[in-house]
Amino acid sequence: MSSGNHQHSQKLNKPAFTEKQAADLVERRFGLKVSGISLLPSYDDQNFHVHVSRHEVNGSCTKEYVLKITNWEESQNLKLIEVQTQVMIFLNAEGFPSATPYFTKDGDIMCLESIDTDCTTKSYMVRLLTYLPGRTVATISANPPILYEIGKLAAQLDKVLAEKFHHPSVQSLHRGEFIWNLANIPLLEKYIHALGQNRHREVVAHVIQQFKDRVVPKLSTFRACINHGDLNDHNILVDSTAVSSERPQIRVSGILDFNDMSYGYYVFEVAIAIMYMMIESKDPLSVGGHVLAGFESIVPLTTEERDALFPLVSGRFAQSLVLAAYTTLMYPENEEYLMITARTGWKHLVQMYELGQQAVEKIWFDTAKTYLCNEFV
Ligand SMILES: Nc1ncnc2c1ncn2[C@@H]1O[C@H](COP(=O)(O)OP(=O)(O)OP(=O)(O)O)[C@@H](O)[C@H]1O
Ligand SMILES: [Mg+2]
Repeated sequence: MSSGNHQHSQKLNKPAFTEKQAADLVERRFGLKVSGISLLPSYDDQNFHVHVSRHEVNGSCTKEYVLKITNWEESQNLKLIEVQTQVMIFLNAEGFPSATPYFTKDGDIMCLESIDTDCTTKSYMVRLLTYLPGRTVATISANPPILYEIGKLAAQLDKVLAEKFHHPSVQSLHRGEFIWNLANIPLLEKYIHALGQNRHREVVAHVIQQFKDRVVPKLSTFRACINHGDLNDHNILVDSTAVSSERPQIRVSGILDFNDMSYGYYVFEVAIAIMYMMIESKDPLSVGGHVLAGFESIVPLTTEERDALFPLVSGRFAQSLVLAAYTTLMYPENEEYLMITARTGWKHLVQMYELGQQAVEKIWFDTAKTYLCNEFV
């Protein structure tokens, strides 16, 4: 989850369908018979894991789907959800492991569903997506081949979108002041008070200043593209049989959660992936080199883009940590959930800050260099 709502109370925003209501909805709008349903973890939206019974010529079988009920605020932005879903369909057709929507009885890829809550009626955008196999990267200990593969896939995804994706509403991916776009790091100043007056705030203030001084003037030199924007360890699935076999054939089996897609730059995507892959790593500083090597096997970075990598990875830590602190201040009921990632996140950001750009870059770039003469990739 990197979305997170800062304008509306999460309680008012998040859909609250019961399992029964969700199952009825699948039957009514999609014409499928539900044989099992359970809530999946989610933050802003509501996601259900749905089993449906299908009668086929040679007997019956069960299929699995994810019923995604978009939060109220984003449900108002029809064009944006439409484009996100068309991207998923496009990527799937291009051979990427992304989910695709099951069409409604009316032949649509999504539908608006109204529900009575308290004294008001609210409408939410609903999609039924194919369930993808595998387990999240968060549940495994990501090794160098997986990190390399994730970097490579991130570059392939950005490249194919930049070169081949067309849609009349693609401009809705220019999301202006969308707080999770890495270009908007200076907007964090509005939320930084949530940290109090301490060392963490000092580090974040430094990260924002570095971004203004060193990255903002260079933005126009970076190559633009559409970013997935949230390649975190809960949004990537890996095939479990592949990762446990003796000679691991690494396979990413799912790329999820296109909610945070927006126009950005190639270097943003790799910085975001590096930051999230560092969080649970036992050797966080080495992560960057493996992800970068995979990314550069498809899209080598320019000198200016490479120079921005350190401030961008630090910037993504700052976004995640400041916004988690702000959300905790506004909605203390989420504290436990938000603070789990924060604890390790602060440790990594402070370590990067103390070591400094040159030392960290040396680790990343030296590691990436080893792949150039390594035949197993
Ligand atoms: N198509 C899918 N196939 C398999 N598992 C899925 C699928 N979609 C979602 N999941 C599971 O549900 C979890 C949450 O889904 P998702 O990432 O879409 O929502 P989120 O990050 O909670 O954000 P939000 O609440 O904003 O939708 C994933 O980490 C994954 O475990
Ligand atoms: Mg997610």
